[in-house]
Amino acid sequence: MNVSDYGEDIAEVLVSAEDIDSRLEEMARELEVMYEGREDLLLVGVLRGAAMVMSNLALKLRIPVTMDWMAVSSYGMSTKSSGVVRILKDLDTDIAGRDVLIVEDIIDSGLTLAWLKANLESRGARSVRIVALLRKPDALKVPLDVDIVGFDLPDEFLVGYGLDYAEKYRNLNCVGLLSPHVYSE
Ligand code: IMP
Ligand code: MG
Repeated sequence: MNVSDYGEDIAEVLVSAEDIDSRLEEMARELEVMYEGREDLLLVGVLRGAAMVMSNLALKLRIPVTMDWMAVSSYGMSTKSSGVVRILKDLDTDIAGRDVLIVEDIIDSGLTLAWLKANLESRGARSVRIVALLRKPDALKVPLDVDIVGFDLPDEFLVGYGLDYAEKYRNLNCVGLLSPHVYSE
């Protein structure tokens, strides 16, 4: 969907559909160099937000990959990440000895990814790297080595390109800010 399909819901577009597409293309080229000579790359998408990034990045890659998915959730009632993570859906793949690339929509506090990276490393992966389309540097709570980031954005609540508000807006083709009226409805 385009911004206009959502009526007045999107107050401001921060990253356009075109900018996302060309940045993903660049990121694919960077990954091809990073994994040159490696035959066995596994992309791990983090459900549900990373579905769009994972699919479009994978389609742009000119190296063979396999793909698997994990679903995780933070414990607790808070809307903010607690750092205590529960696996809702685990990998179907044995990653011992494999090169693993975690694909994420956004890095906010970094707590989920810090936990996930350590978890996958503990399974004996040959390497575990992280690629994320978006990052909020001011929201980061733990040191986190991210190998490739698409865009750094301000610490505000974003929707689109996989990111939801109450499960809506994931299929918006850009990333933007919601209008205040959406929250008050
Ligand atoms: P973290 O553990 O705080 O880094 O949480 C990251 C996860 O929170 C992301 O994978 C998203 O699913 C979600 N998230 C973080 N920021 C936003 C946002 O601005 N809009 C929608 N979801 C977000
Ligand atoms: Mg996510």
